[in-house]
Amino acid sequence: MSTTAVRALNDKTDAATTSVAPATQVPPKPPFVKGLAGIVAVQTGISSVDGPTSTLLYRGINIHELADRAQYEEVAYLLLYGHLPNEKELGDFRFRLIANRWLPAPTYDLLRRLPHDTVPMEMLRTGVSLLSFYDPEIEDISPESTQRKAIRLIAQLPVLCAAYHRIRSGLEPIAANPRLSHAANTLYMLTGEEPDPDFVAALNAYFVLLADHGMNASTFTARVVASTQADLHSSITAALAALKGPLHGGANEATMLTLLEIDNIDRVDSWVDEAFAHKRIIMGFGHRIYKNMDPRARHLNFWAERLGRKVNQPKYYEMSLKLALSILRHRELYPNVDFYSASMLYYLGIPIDLFTPMFAASRVAGWSAHVIEQYKDNALIRPQSEYIGPQELHYTALSERS
Ligand SMILES: CC(C)(COP(=O)(O)OP(=O)(O)OC[C@H]1O[C@@H](n2cnc3c(N)ncnc32)[C@H](O)[C@@H]1OP(=O)(O)O)[C@@H](O)C(=O)NCCC(=O)NCCS
Repeated sequence: MSTTAVRALNDKTDAATTSVAPATQVPPKPPFVKGLAGIVAVQTGISSVDGPTSTLLYRGINIHELADRAQYEEVAYLLLYGHLPNEKELGDFRFRLIANRWLPAPTYDLLRRLPHDTVPMEMLRTGVSLLSFYDPEIEDISPESTQRKAIRLIAQLPVLCAAYHRIRSGLEPIAANPRLSHAANTLYMLTGEEPDPDFVAALNAYFVLLADHGMNASTFTARVVASTQADLHSSITAALAALKGPLHGGANEATMLTLLEIDNIDRVDSWVDEAFAHKRIIMGFGHRIYKNMDPRARHLNFWAERLGRKVNQPKYYEMSLKLALSILRHRELYPNVDFYSASMLYYLGIPIDLFTPMFAASRVAGWSAHVIEQYKDNALIRPQSEYIGPQELHYTALSERS
């Protein structure tokens, strides 16, 4: 650009920024809402979360129907493609998931080099980011390519979790078993043993129940990244970072630590009284949308109770029930999805720091569906901020600052 053109552009910009528009033309700034509570940020056809009726629908289907009857593979397909698969579609989908249950060699190198006390959620965040280097379609954000990438990630997340856990335990990672379902293979790759059918059914129900949930923090994060037209792996890496926090996905781990801290059912009431006296936030309770019952909790309660009896260790389930009742003595606060998940995952033998990665292994289907939906009718997600800092301060030379 010539010097004259640059000068003309600068003059125009200065004129635009110094001219004052008539007051009537300035639209009112929307009110600030802390935590965006109650703000509708997105329109979606993926899942519906209704607080007053405690209802969760995936693509119009009530979660209660899916929790008891559906395989996670069907639910992942439903979220990604918008309808339940027929037999052939499900067969193809399963085949593609099974074919992608492996990691590129450099991923294993990374897992071996990580400090053995690396928090698994951080491993997963970095692992997914690393997988982007080896994905053949990374820059293609068409729906078809993003669906293919989503299938790869759904297949790879449990492999990352299992391989990392085995390596840090001094064991060799084991190859996936193509005969096993998604849930069964996840348990198999962690333990090296073909799992009990009840364990598989419980983990499958967990995966089904956690696969999507409206505009939660990690899904919103994924959509914000997708709205810049960044690729799926970038969106999922960011979503994993958001899921890690104890106010979101990390609550299942924090809940189990609470149960272990209380340790004895006779200590539950006094522990709760003390928590309220100190205004402590009790993990696994409360929800931004569900103020009565989280519809997912009922199914996880069922599985926690069943597995507790099965492994002959009902203590943590019984403590959970008592904790839920004990809290109601203080205020109306109900268990959320993470509460009964904690004892259920513990009974499955999943290490506590892998609870949130298991949540992620399920939610990756929902995140991916949201990324595809965002691309389809995209607008950059870019809200405003309300400036509440000082005005009219001035730059002072470094030597003059105290
Ligand atoms: C999920 C959560 C962040 C929702 O927050 P929120 O929508 O801002 O909750 P609200 O503001 O409606 O809470 C209302 C009141 O209940 C209290 N409350 C909410 N959850 C609580 C909990 N788990 N333990 C103790 N008090 C809680 C709040 O402190 C607030 O008290 P106040 O009225 O005296 O200020 C919150 O319930 C929480 O931190 N829960 C624990 C973490 C957790 O389990 N997260 C997983 C969610 S699926």
